Amino acid sequence: MTTSTRSQTITVRPVTTALGAEIEGVDLSGPLDAETVQALRQALLDHLVIFFRDQDLTADQYLAFAHAIGEPMEYPFVKGLPGASLITPVVKEADEETNFGGVWHSDTAYLDEPPMATMLLARETPPYGGDTMFANQQLAYERLSDGLRDILDGLTAINSSVRADGIRTRVDKDVPVLEDGNSSGYEAEHPVVRTHPESGRKSLYVNRGHTVNFVGMTEEESLPILNYLFEHQIRDEFTCRFRWRPGSLALWDNRSALHYPLNDYHGHRREMHRITLRGDKPR
Ligand code: SIN
Repeated sequence: MTTSTRSQTITVRPVTTALGAEIEGVDLSGPLDAETVQALRQALLDHLVIFFRDQDLTADQYLAFAHAIGEPMEYPFVKGLPGASLITPVVKEADEETNFGGVWHSDTAYLDEPPMATMLLARETPPYGGDTMFANQQLAYERLSDGLRDILDGLTAINSSVRADGIRTRVDKDVPVLEDGNSSGYEAEHPVVRTHPESGRKSLYVNRGHTVNFVGMTEEESLPILNYLFEHQIRDEFTCRFRWRPGSLALWDNRSALHYPLNDYHGHRREMHRITLRGDKPR
């Protein structure tokens, strides 16, 4: 689909039926007019993750784009770039084995108000591998049976920053931690099915990285259902996969999409710069 604004002709090319679209015709290095921002927001609502190519932005340009879409916030565990604390480096060195965030997750679901969106800008990419996968949680919810949807609609769950699957992707890495970071971890109770504040669509809001148990049930009781949901929510037909190049930028809706960075490029360096945008309390 192509939209013309006063300053740009924007083309939105879906990458799979489930989610994801490549955006062409937008240069993010300069100020964006209101119509362009509106077209990008709409593309994000429609496709849940949008991709741009060849955006070799300075830190200031990247932050300016983030401010055009939302309000950048600090990541609680990792220090930002020197002089740009709102940009978090996500790096895997050539001699490291663990990749940051290497489990299907939604960013910082353990906060009371998790980010509404995340941006990732590729600075250095391996010669092969290192793609990121995304999964549409609106579809994942809609494809459940009526019976299970009815049960899940009434449940809330505990999301923790110290769930074993999630924490190993940070702790095994020697990342510079914020001095005032909460060392005992963060925990938040959220609905298992949340409603998107803009589109009104419901999505599954659990993830293997952070969700521990349903409120009112033990972990042992919760896990069989959670494990079913963790498998269901990443079925191939709900996903897309993005191949990075330096200057590629992804912007995803963290309320309705999960992501998973593939760890298939040992021996090569990958450096990404991440900005998260403030969100509201899931309802
Ligand atoms: C993240 O979970 O923020 C990292 C995603 C990636 O490195 O592709």
